[in-house]
Amino acid sequence: MTDLPTTAPEKDLVLDAVVDLDVPGPTISRHLYGHFAEHLGRCVYEGFWVGEDSDIPNVGGIRTDVVEALRELAIPNLRWPGGCFADTYHWRDGVGPAADRPRIVNTHWGDVVEDNSFGTHEFMALCDLLGTAPYISGNVGSGTVQETADWVEYLTRGDDSPMARLRREHGRDEPWGVSFFGIGNEPWGCGGNLRADQFASLARQHATYARDHGGNRLVRVAAGASDDDYAWTETLMQQVAKLGDADPRDLWQMVSFHFYTFAGTWGDKGAATEFTRDEYWATMRKALDVRRIIAGHSAVMDAYDPEAKLGLALDEWGTWWNVERDTNPGFLYQQNAMRDALVATVHFDAFHDHARRLRLANIAQTVNVLQSMLLTDGAKMIKTPTFHAFAMSAGHHDAASLPVRERTARATHDVDGTAVGTVSASASTKDGAVLVSLTNLDPDAPASVRIDLRGRVASDPVATVLAADDPAAHNTFDAPDAVTPCPLDGVTVTDGVLTAQLPPAAFATVRLTLG
Ligand code: AHR
Repeated sequence: MTDLPTTAPEKDLVLDAVVDLDVPGPTISRHLYGHFAEHLGRCVYEGFWVGEDSDIPNVGGIRTDVVEALRELAIPNLRWPGGCFADTYHWRDGVGPAADRPRIVNTHWGDVVEDNSFGTHEFMALCDLLGTAPYISGNVGSGTVQETADWVEYLTRGDDSPMARLRREHGRDEPWGVSFFGIGNEPWGCGGNLRADQFASLARQHATYARDHGGNRLVRVAAGASDDDYAWTETLMQQVAKLGDADPRDLWQMVSFHFYTFAGTWGDKGAATEFTRDEYWATMRKALDVRRIIAGHSAVMDAYDPEAKLGLALDEWGTWWNVERDTNPGFLYQQNAMRDALVATVHFDAFHDHARRLRLANIAQTVNVLQSMLLTDGAKMIKTPTFHAFAMSAGHHDAASLPVRERTARATHDVDGTAVGTVSASASTKDGAVLVSLTNLDPDAPASVRIDLRGRVASDPVATVLAADDPAAHNTFDAPDAVTPCPLDGVTVTDGVLTAQLPPAAFATVRLTLG
């Protein structure tokens, strides 16, 4: 949704807007709906990987229920093995016979022993099962340039090269296709505590030796800023500019940043399911700030790359709460409530509005860690409200964005002097259909929405809603469907005007057929 105009909203109408169906904007890359799986807590081990001998149904050690659920989301890409873990990961530890793989200590996350039973081959098998593109995060913090070069060769080279031979010795004849390769992770922190200029030099080396082999074309993602550290982005973009007449994509093809949402401070982020109204609104104010930050990084990139040849990547985002009681503080296990789903949907709207520059995003993390899609408890598995928000939004993948422009200012809620919009919206079109996303952030009032659909005829609305009486509502292993989507009644299109009434704290999608 575009910026707030200054006129007052029509009485009782929380959103009064126009969508020009005949003026499509940039394509919303499906990769904005990417995911992330780190060797952290119970994400990889138990979440995905249970081993072939497990009683939990699995395919080659990868649990079947999790794969089947995630296939509903059409996950476009999966980032692995970290995060902070990536900068301690030496890929050779995770290939070859499992019994021969060294054990290491996962110093970042829980100080637990990592047996490396899940490594490159297991990750690529997981990607095959999910039908998703691999996003491999390289080790710049403690790895060598040679390790980067060898890993890429091992993964993607088809001939008789040393690394291709090694891969064959480990049972895989054909090279894999690898779409994305991360050059480092949070180098300003866990990835080496580097200054921007130090990292830029290292990143140039790693990016150079992360070669394209055969027909594989890597999208190299240079590890970027925390939040609104635009100076970091500028340092990375200056490297591109220094290439002179060369194509700016020659070094890396994307620059990333990370942005997490919480209600309090980094030291005390708030609880996942026990929160006050003030904490709820503080969360939403923080989540909506992602728009400002995407715009800020995009502005820096525009200055160096006005044609937007490089992409911006938000390759870690989502809610981060205090861990659940009696769980390992290093495992980052948190419940996931209706509030989390709404944080996700306001991010989606921001992504759609910035689709020209923002081309990749990865929510953290897929199973059992931070803002998960799925939670497991041994053999049990549940879908979170965030899972449902992703499923309902899958129609936006690779669709043309349709800007939602407001005719009058949307309603706002005052959060410590900041006017926070109580409604968020976006729209897109593909395959003869339009998908409108509507979020009512107000947990205490319904929202009336009116959207003029201009330029083409759109009809036959099919509306779905995800809502709960309380924004803290969540699914549990005893009540797995407490928060689940259902049809939304009363959505109409009359004379080209879409009207809908959203319950409090709700996310709705409306699918329309183009005439
Ligand atoms: O997602 C959890 C951690 O958050 C990642 O390992 C790190 O990159 C970030 O700080």
